[in-house]
Amino acid sequence: MRHSIRSGLLATALLAFASSAALAQVQPWMDTSKSPEVRAAAAVSAMTLDEKLGLVMGYTDPDQLVKEPDEIVSTQIKADVAAHHIKGSAGYIADVPRLGIPAQWQTDASIGVRVAGMERTALPSSLATAASFDPKVTEMGGIMIANEARASGFNVFLAGGGNLAREPRNGRNFEYTGEDPVLTGEMTGGLIRGIQSRHMVSTMKHWAVNDQESQRTTVDARISKPAMRQSDLLAFELIYDLSSPGSAMCAYNLVNGDWACENDYLNNQVLKQDWGFKGYVMSDWGAVHSSAKAANNGLDQFTGYPCCGHHGAFFSAKTLKADIASGAIAMSRIDDMAQRILWPLFAKGVVDDPAKVGPIDFNASAAVAQTAAEQSLVLLKNENDLLPLAASAKTIAMIGGNADKGVIQGGGSSGVTPIGGNAVAGLEPKTWPGPVVYIPSSPVAAMKAVKPDATVTYISGDNIKQAAALAKKSDVAIVFVTQWMGEGIDNPLELPGNQDALVAAVVKANPKTIVVVESGGAVLMPWANQVPAILEAFYPGSRGGVAIANILTGKVNPSGHLPISFPASNAQLAHDEIPGFHKPDGIKVSITYDEGAAIGYKWYDIKGFKPLFAFGHGLSYTQFNLTNLKAELAGSDVKVHFSVKNTGKVSGATAAQVYVSAEPAAGWEAPKRLGGFAKVKLEPGASQTVEVKIDPRLLATYDEATNSWVIKAGTYHLSLGEASDHLSTATDIQLPETRFSAVHAR
Ligand code: BGC
Repeated sequence: MRHSIRSGLLATALLAFASSAALAQVQPWMDTSKSPEVRAAAAVSAMTLDEKLGLVMGYTDPDQLVKEPDEIVSTQIKADVAAHHIKGSAGYIADVPRLGIPAQWQTDASIGVRVAGMERTALPSSLATAASFDPKVTEMGGIMIANEARASGFNVFLAGGGNLAREPRNGRNFEYTGEDPVLTGEMTGGLIRGIQSRHMVSTMKHWAVNDQESQRTTVDARISKPAMRQSDLLAFELIYDLSSPGSAMCAYNLVNGDWACENDYLNNQVLKQDWGFKGYVMSDWGAVHSSAKAANNGLDQFTGYPCCGHHGAFFSAKTLKADIASGAIAMSRIDDMAQRILWPLFAKGVVDDPAKVGPIDFNASAAVAQTAAEQSLVLLKNENDLLPLAASAKTIAMIGGNADKGVIQGGGSSGVTPIGGNAVAGLEPKTWPGPVVYIPSSPVAAMKAVKPDATVTYISGDNIKQAAALAKKSDVAIVFVTQWMGEGIDNPLELPGNQDALVAAVVKANPKTIVVVESGGAVLMPWANQVPAILEAFYPGSRGGVAIANILTGKVNPSGHLPISFPASNAQLAHDEIPGFHKPDGIKVSITYDEGAAIGYKWYDIKGFKPLFAFGHGLSYTQFNLTNLKAELAGSDVKVHFSVKNTGKVSGATAAQVYVSAEPAAGWEAPKRLGGFAKVKLEPGASQTVEVKIDPRLLATYDEATNSWVIKAGTYHLSLGEASDHLSTATDIQLPETRFSAVHAR
């Protein structure tokens, strides 16, 4: 019996082998022993022009598409999209059935699968997971959301936000991973690595300098090339190095006078030539303004048509064909576009391991989301150890922020429909980028579950007097404040509504007040001096309520550190105003980034400003000692070693950060840069030696004339600590003059 099963299996395996070998003979691109480059080239050489252009054109929303003129989109394409696009999802690119090339089904975005009407698990916002300072957290998150995406039928994830929080009021900062290139490289790189490990293509976005949402489709971002290379582009370069995304999504805005999706400098010179990017540039939805210029300046996939009312005729295979006929686009460029789109489909496993609709283990997903939140929430302030809540806290007032129902989420294309639906329906704005969604993970319910011996009372906070009265008769008060952000809109830093007044009244009534902030990014806290304890929860995701309760009660020791600076006032911002802020879309504006690469803490350092809370700051219920910092030159990297000891009484983790300074300033944008970091978890009394490598680009400036990075000879100062404004130990290293090309050796 056993023998016959085994020979049966052997026969099946042989058959499969024989048929895949036979297939590889007829369709050499199916030969898995060949490199993805060779496979993609073989497939391109077998394709007709129509098939190639089919790969280049990406569509969304069949209900809108059908209204487009037939001469732009043929009836056959309309029918194909209507039949195969996953309804409510971001996009669809037709398959090439004759050659076994699968369709591309695209889903948003970095916190989870977004399809109207499909309930899926939401990670904490990307800014939140960046606060973990642990790329393993984003990598695990990437694996989880990719598992859900594959089981929902998708093979391309529009995930991997890489823009820097240059403008603290940018309404999409919650989709990005902070203000520092090294942190962004590591954290977004982790997410993309996780997603692509599940045989999907992931896209880094929005390429590039898409640093404000006001007038996002018309704003011209003006910045010098060296400044761009040392900030926004460096972040993407590090993401690229660390995760090899199959795609880059070019942004809506212009950069130095040219639309990002037809910007030769960005797409051809930097991404493809200097970095050796083999994948494809896809347009943000509708972000196309020409056919030949876009194709020649590096756009490979005209994606997301018809979206956002933009530029129909450019999205037409017919227009591209006319350009080929007139010689405006060379046939070799069309082949290159197809090759670039196919390369990651082979390289990332999309062709060989097709996505299949199937069951999702939502419990396993929720556990990942919870761990991510627990590693990411940042304890900003904790006077007199008010937290974790003492056993003696028997009456707990929980106030505001719909904490009885759930936790808030960001709006726009990254908004996941949570499992259980929207916990607080009907809030404004109800339409795009709304609706405002609360994930049904109630901090109040979670608190009751973790502290069954306490009396937990919730009050909305709409009536400030009643809230203050409840706080007064309770042992402690926990106020929840929320700030909603959505795609396409920038935000003032002030909390909306009467929330500041609510906090002020509650802390006056009961000095034992804790504020939990659920925000998309930095907010002003005029009450910060009065309030003894503040927890920044960002948008904490599907298990946010549980994570908040676990941290407040000490079941989990907080270990998040800020990925952005929190300004003390608007006067500390690099730009007084955002051009086109809260005006109707479509106004032509420009913004000149005179601050260059001096973003966030770098700006504060130059100006000598003291932020409310500094980049990298985050408290724990234990303490750490960081000592013994040593640096050595190892090849082209500077290697730093140090030891970290948990000197407190409970197990915990810290984000050890190494900053570098050049002496003399060597033309740097700021006195110091984050060089590297490590998340270190230790039991009480335990210590560990840690190594952090500092990439040579972090010691250099970009030289435009020679397209190279230059490290000036001199003394470099390294400092170590748990926040950018709290550096406890330092050492120096001498570096020789070094020059290395900005062209990657790949
Ligand atoms: C957003 C992208 C998103 C795309 C598809 C655009 O409006 O800017 O981030 O991936 O839509 O939904």
